[in-house]
Amino acid sequence: MKKIKNLLEKLNKNRSLTLLEYEQLISGYSKEAAEYAAALAVENRKRVYGTDIYIRGLIEVSNVCKNDCYYCGIRCSNKNCDRYRLTKEDILLSAKEGYALGFRTFVMQGGEDPHFTDEFLVDVISSLKSLYPDCAITLSLGERSRESYKALKNAGADRYLLRHETAEKEHYQKLHPENMSYDNRMECLKNLKELGFQVGCGFMVGSPYQTVQNLAKDLKFVEEFAPDMCGIGPYLTHKDTPFNNMPSGSFELTLYLLSIIRLISPEILLPATTALGTINPKGRELGILAGANVIMPNLSPMSVRQKYMLYDNKACIGDEAAESVNNLKRSMEAIGYTVVTSRGDRSLTGFITP
Ligand code: 5AD
Repeated sequence: MKKIKNLLEKLNKNRSLTLLEYEQLISGYSKEAAEYAAALAVENRKRVYGTDIYIRGLIEVSNVCKNDCYYCGIRCSNKNCDRYRLTKEDILLSAKEGYALGFRTFVMQGGEDPHFTDEFLVDVISSLKSLYPDCAITLSLGERSRESYKALKNAGADRYLLRHETAEKEHYQKLHPENMSYDNRMECLKNLKELGFQVGCGFMVGSPYQTVQNLAKDLKFVEEFAPDMCGIGPYLTHKDTPFNNMPSGSFELTLYLLSIIRLISPEILLPATTALGTINPKGRELGILAGANVIMPNLSPMSVRQKYMLYDNKACIGDEAAESVNNLKRSMEAIGYTVVTSRGDRSLTGFITP
């Protein structure tokens, strides 16, 4: 424990460790180590964001996807997936409901659906921006060309989430079919950053074939790429994928990694993800207590919520639903935090703005 404590303190001071040190930190996981990491993480998060928790209204715009990722429930080969795509009107209506509930960030997330052309998206984004100029628009629509990203940015999109999934090429290839490439993923992330998006990367904890070395690389990547946001959650099995007999990832390890990421970047926007809330009923609260500061309730039309199933039993009703934002507020207050109605951009100073 002494060694792990030293490593955590070193990380807290330098915001950087070597790959080997990250490996030691991960292998040295213990309940005690996690508690210490969480205490340091919370200290950092409080300095930058106080007790504020940001909320994002998640609109799942389409579960049509041209990709066939081995882990994902909406992969194109899954014939049991009941496909849908929202219209512009559906999306605007979800945003309207979300705005009334206090959301000031809308996240349009979806599979790589060829129907979502630049023309369509530019129209939706510019409409949202003119209706809700005080809101941030986040996109999570996978890999697109640089030109496409540029058009979406020019239309008014502020942020883009594209998980890198794994920072090790060999591991990436074990999770994806041959027509998908690690290099293109990284190229997309680079383009998004250069175009001026606030960018989020991220990875699954406990994805099939993942090693401690892989996770260490993920942490090093987060350190070096310095994203504005980072989405991590446990890998969760989906029955209709080639990985249907692979075990889900560890809840405890995910919490520990959330704390470590907070130490790498005190200013990062770090969600307690839906996957975390799915694997454990207290997942979101425990995520916040480990250092997360963002929650993304589901704002999709009720009729499609059960269809955006990336993994089995995905939480999308009850307290995961945007309509339950009052329950969310209460559960955050119960642990000493406050859900705020603001865009919740990343702090650029590292301190609470007076
Ligand atoms: N378990 C957990 N997370 C998953 N994702 C996709 N499938 C799963 C799964 N089975 C994550 C991926 C993707 C994001 C939208 O959801 O990291 O980038």
